Amino acid sequence: MNDRKNEIGKTLLTGRQIAKKVKELGRAISSDYRGLDPVFVGILKGSVIFLSDLLREIDIECSVDFIALSSYMGETETSGVVKVVMDLRESIRERHVVLIEDIVDTGLSMAYLRDNLLTRQPASFSICSLLSKTAARRVHVDLKYTGFEVPEEFLVGYGLDYRERYRNLPYIAALKPEVYKGE
Ligand code: IMP
Ligand code: MG
Repeated sequence: MNDRKNEIGKTLLTGRQIAKKVKELGRAISSDYRGLDPVFVGILKGSVIFLSDLLREIDIECSVDFIALSSYMGETETSGVVKVVMDLRESIRERHVVLIEDIVDTGLSMAYLRDNLLTRQPASFSICSLLSKTAARRVHVDLKYTGFEVPEEFLVGYGLDYRERYRNLPYIAALKPEVYKGE
């Protein structure tokens, strides 16, 4: 078997840096949503690690749901074509919704999902993304909470994948460009 570690470049964010930020975000969200019984909507699969850590830093009454979008289909470039492949279990009508995402890149997925969820008449709607590649944005999306601004590199770890690999890395690193160039 290949040593897949050879595909991983420099570490951008250590587990410790991420944990500190997640604690700050949890504190801010708890204070903003106290008494509002928000529903945290995790976007599968990338947000799962972030959401599970974030939830444990949130000390208010809340619930959790999940939604899955069609993705890059394993590649590193967005197709711009997005659709819901697994919908929420519960209604969000009159609920305070906080969408939890791993990374906002072009913003196309998030803009699509925002427009879709807003038609369901939530009481309020906001977005919390661990990472934001603001320089890569093609459509505007309003991020109420952002963990880190990151450069336009392809990142893996802490839920982020390259062809379904590396989600389990406990830190965030750049994938070496030679791994995906030519795609
Ligand atoms: P967008 O529609 O271009 O904003 O893409 C958002 C989705 O693409 C994210 O939810 C990720 O699943 C994926 N994505 C974007 N950039 C990266 C990256 O650097 N590493 C891994 N996945 C990424
Ligand atoms: Mg994703």
